[in-house]
Amino acid sequence: MGCFITFEGGEGTGKTTIITYLNEYLTKKGYNVISTREPGGIEIAEQIRNIILDVKNTKMDYRTEALLYAASRTQHLAEKIIPALKEDKIVLCDRYLDSSLVYQGIARGLGIENVLKVNMFATEYMPNITFFIDVKPEICFKRIKDNNRAMDRLDLEKMDFHNMVYEGYKQIAKMYPERIVSIDGDRTIDEIIKDITKKIDELLGE
Ligand code: TYD
Repeated sequence: MGCFITFEGGEGTGKTTIITYLNEYLTKKGYNVISTREPGGIEIAEQIRNIILDVKNTKMDYRTEALLYAASRTQHLAEKIIPALKEDKIVLCDRYLDSSLVYQGIARGLGIENVLKVNMFATEYMPNITFFIDVKPEICFKRIKDNNRAMDRLDLEKMDFHNMVYEGYKQIAKMYPERIVSIDGDRTIDEIIKDITKKIDELLGE
């Protein structure tokens, strides 16, 4: 079986850039790597995701949101992640189950246990390792503004929400100390990549 690696953190933490660098690093080492993000370009999962993030859907119940994320995750897993792992690939995934535990379980107040239960039905595979990219929300927001990035329905939540997400990740990292590695993301990309590749090399037995 391949290796399933996930990346977590709030908006603007740099997950996408980090994944791009890592893909190149691992590919150069001869590994077969795929990078993906929920909903992973999977048609059914994309359709579900569009409903969740549509700024018109202000009436969406938080439980609906949690269930839709879980549904989108199942499809992405079935069509893309599991086949890749069966082909012995390294899968780098931008956000996974921990996003639901934090955003829906903690920030939306549904409770970690409830969201975990739904996701245990939805999710067959837990990541081998998860990197939480730790950057304070005010720094993330400055980065998003500087990049002029468009905001979706969840980005538009108030600062309190994003602070709760940040604290939520810290809580989840403590809950799963064996799986989740916290990485200080407020440094140069080279420093960040060095820490992450060290952990991945250990995991891959190098
Ligand atoms: P995404 O498009 O991955 O945004 P980003 O570039 O910020 O990572 O995610 C969109 C939003 O969806 C983001 O605010 C986080 C949220 N989200 C959840 O609330 N629950 C989830 O399970 C996932 C995967 C994402």
